[in-house]
Formats: sequence, structure tokens, C-alpha cells
Amino acid sequence: MNILAIETSCDDTAAAVLSNGNVLSNVISSQVVHDLYGGIVPELASREHMLLIAQIVDSAMAKASMDLASIDAIAVTSGPGLAGSLLVGTHFAKGLALALGVPLHPVHHIEAHLYSGYLEEPTLAYPSVTLVVSGGHTSIFLVESPESYQVLGSTTDDAAGEAFDKIAKMLGLGYPGGPAIDRHAAMGNAEAFAFPRSRMHEDSYDFSFSGLKSAVRRVVESLSGKDKPLPIDDLCASAQTAITDVLVSKTMRAAKANNVPAVTIAGGVSANTELRQRMADACSQAGMQFVAPRMQYCVDNAAMIGAVAAMRIARGHSAGTVDFCVDPKPIRRR
Ligand code: KG4
Ligand code: ZN
Repeated sequence: MNILAIETSCDDTAAAVLSNGNVLSNVISSQVVHDLYGGIVPELASREHMLLIAQIVDSAMAKASMDLASIDAIAVTSGPGLAGSLLVGTHFAKGLALALGVPLHPVHHIEAHLYSGYLEEPTLAYPSVTLVVSGGHTSIFLVESPESYQVLGSTTDDAAGEAFDKIAKMLGLGYPGGPAIDRHAAMGNAEAFAFPRSRMHEDSYDFSFSGLKSAVRRVVESLSGKDKPLPIDDLCASAQTAITDVLVSKTMRAAKANNVPAVTIAGGVSANTELRQRMADACSQAGMQFVAPRMQYCVDNAAMIGAVAAMRIARGHSAGTVDFCVDPKPIRRR
């Protein structure tokens, strides 16, 4: 069973080839055009996808040493995401599926992030608790089995990645801000500023990061215009630890309350050094298996989209028709 998978939900144009569930290629092209604007510009994102999609698919096929005649099914992200971006990937996939006469599987982007821990480590136990943390999402899920999962909590305002990006912008560190904050934090004192840990001690698994963003803004305003330069390293370390404290404590509380044997993380923010280390330590202390997928499975990628389709095909599901619509709406609580 050879699957070609396509992902264009946001600002990464991605294609992958899987054979019997094994990833043969996983090509990701991250758009740099948005860096000039300090955030993703949806119209530019869809235009970039239009320019790149055919060559990224070609490249994934070439890296897998496969030709299109050997493809048995196509998988594509149908939502959530930016409408224009989703339309480029889904229309390309629909056209190719019709031309090749193969089934087309629409895949939910967040569902794909949820199972990327199983893509990395197929022996990962069920049920697991997964933290999906990116520029667009911050949610905790209970993953009960293949195709069965529920949302335990989500952010009520900014996603954690958005908080990283906005704080980096205030500090003049450019976009995307997460990697820069990660680097500066390694040289700073996390106790220099007492930033808020919103909702950390509430029973719910919901998050809020807008208070932290305002608190950092107030400190930056009060320190600006003085003779001394801003203590960038200390501000980064203090903000990063505030975000990580909340992410780790809520995820571990969910894992313990649901008595799961395993915990995973996914999404761009899971690249964060402090988050990975502290999640690993907390799981080891709790005697739980912890899987942090390699970065090319954590960021937006097509291998995870193909893996969900492979899982469905293995369970005997058929693809349906190519006549589906994209669904840009974010995930809803069940
Ligand atoms: O999953 P992703 O590549 O794209 C979507 O948001 O869908 O995630 C991008 C986010 C950005 O907000 C970026 O700042 C953040 O992931 N990020 C990080 C790190 N690397 C990327 N945040 C914290 N630490 C990092 N090392
Ligand atoms: Zn994503």
C-alpha cells in the first residue's frame, strides 16, 4: 500500500510517501516570505503553495524512488487551517486522485498531530495523553485508540506559539520567535521576572496566555528608554519558564488523572528545549513512557497525514468521494 500525502494547511508546503506505513520521504518547504511581515499573511501563503506544490510532490516521489503509477491512495489535509492554503492542497490532491484513478483520504490536521507519537514510536501504548502545541493550537487530548480521542482542554485565547512569537516581537527578536527565545533563554535567569502562570492551579485543562503577554509588555515598557539595554536573556528565560510551567503541569495532571501509561507532544513549540527536557523528566518521575517525535514529525508535515490515512486503510475504511469541502474551522470539543 503506497500512499502519497499532501499538507498545505498553513505556511508549509509538504508532501510525503509512505509504503505499508513506513515513511519513504517527507519533504517540507517552509515559506520565508512571511518573515518580512512578522506573521503569516494568508494570501501570500496560498500563492506560495501554488508555486511550490507540484515541485514538492515531485521531490517527495523522487526521494521515495517511486513513480505516480505505483501510488495506491492519496491523503490530504482537509482542515483546520487557512482556507486558501487548504484549497491549494486539496484541489491538487483531488485532480491527481482523479487522474490516477486512486482513492483520496481527507485527513484532519490535528488528528494527524495527535498520532505523530505513534508514527515515531509504533509501540507507544494506548491510551496516551498528547499535548499539541504550535503557533495555532494549544490543546491536551486523551488518545484512547486509533481513531478515538477527545479534547481535555484548549487555550481560551492565544496559542503558546503565538505567545512566543508576540513576546519575541516585543523584544525585537524577529519571526518566528520561539527558536530565538529558546536560544536567549539558555543564557538567562528564569527567576529574574515573576511572570503569571494563568489558570495553572485551576481544575480545568484550559490554557490562557494573553495575561503573560501583557505582563511582558508592561515590564518591557517600564525598562525601555533607560540607559541600560533590555535584559533580553532574563526576559526570555522568565517568559519561557512561565509558559513551560503551565504546559508541563497541566499535561502531567491530565496524564495522572486518566492513569495513562504514555505521554507525547507535537506541534512546532515541542521543539522547545526546556519543554522537551521537563516533559521527559516529569514522565520519568511518574513512570510513564514519553515520546517526543523527531522535529520533522512535530512541525507541520505530510508524513503524519499519510500515517492517519494508512491507519484508516488498515482498519478497512474506504475513502469516500473526492467531493468533500475543506473545513478551515478549528477543532471543537467533543
Ligand atoms: O507547528 P508549527 O511549525 O506551525 C503551526 O503553528 O502550525 O509551529 C510554529 C510555532 C511558532 O509559533 C514558533 O515560534 C514555534 O512553533 N516554535 C518554537 C520553537 N520552535 C518553533 N517555540 C518555542 N521554542 C522553540 N524552539
Ligand atoms: Zn500543525
